[in-house]
Amino acid sequence: MALDTTPGTTARDNRFARRLFSPLPDRYDRLAEWLSLGQNGRWRREMVGRIAACAPELVLDVATGTAGVALDTAARTGARVVGVDVSEDMLRTGRARVGAAGADDVVQLVLGRGEQLPFPDATFDALGFTYLLRYVEDPAATVRELARVVRPGGVVANLEFLVPRSAFWRFWWWGYTRLVLPVAGAVTGGRGWFDVGRFLGPNISAHYRRFPLEWTVRAWEEAGITDVGVRRMSLGGGLVMWGRRAGA
Ligand SMILES: C[S@@+](CC[C@H](N)C(=O)[O-])C[C@H]1O[C@@H](n2cnc3c(N)ncnc32)[C@H](O)[C@@H]1O
Repeated sequence: MALDTTPGTTARDNRFARRLFSPLPDRYDRLAEWLSLGQNGRWRREMVGRIAACAPELVLDVATGTAGVALDTAARTGARVVGVDVSEDMLRTGRARVGAAGADDVVQLVLGRGEQLPFPDATFDALGFTYLLRYVEDPAATVRELARVVRPGGVVANLEFLVPRSAFWRFWWWGYTRLVLPVAGAVTGGRGWFDVGRFLGPNISAHYRRFPLEWTVRAWEEAGITDVGVRRMSLGGGLVMWGRRAGA
């Protein structure tokens, strides 16, 4: 059965995300790199660098998927990392990768929702989340929940897609996300990747129409995150944000 990828259906519940990501784990890491034209790795390094800046000992990686960010964070910081995701299928591949990397003692993966984390307040020295807020019903409430589990002074960092500001690059971004991505997804990954390729562009546009970047910065500040920084990357198609939990 084809997945309903109509914008607006995405955040109703976590079932949508579970179904969208269910066929993807086997080829996720390779295709995420190819289909982002090699940019995903750059964005990820920038985000992990923001986390490493606070020399954390315990880090939470929300929407960890196949644990790529969790493994990179552990390698770069020497911290223990807990990864959380709603998709058991993504986590299964993640656990295999963690085992293959010999990192079972430093990276632990847990089934859970970014909207309702199973951890006490101020548990973590730092928190990263990637490609999460487009899948939740209430992004502001989710940011508050993420901030809750970070200790005062700890770093919060995020990686997301973004819509380019320049009309020229937005035109090419639109063509790539609406025309190339579904076809390239289908050719390289089959039906599941066609569905994602068709879903992503309209979903990113719809998300920023409802929740512009300025709105997101305010939501972080209202959640008690200070010194919020924003870096647009790759002609404006990628976004890395960071800040510190207030109260140190
Ligand atoms: C695009 S993948 C990113 C995976 C990984 N962070 C990476 O960059 O390689 C997005 C992940 O978010 C997860 N996800 C979606 N909604 C979520 C939620 N409400 N709470 C936790 N994880 C969620 C999906 O299951 C999926 O694994």
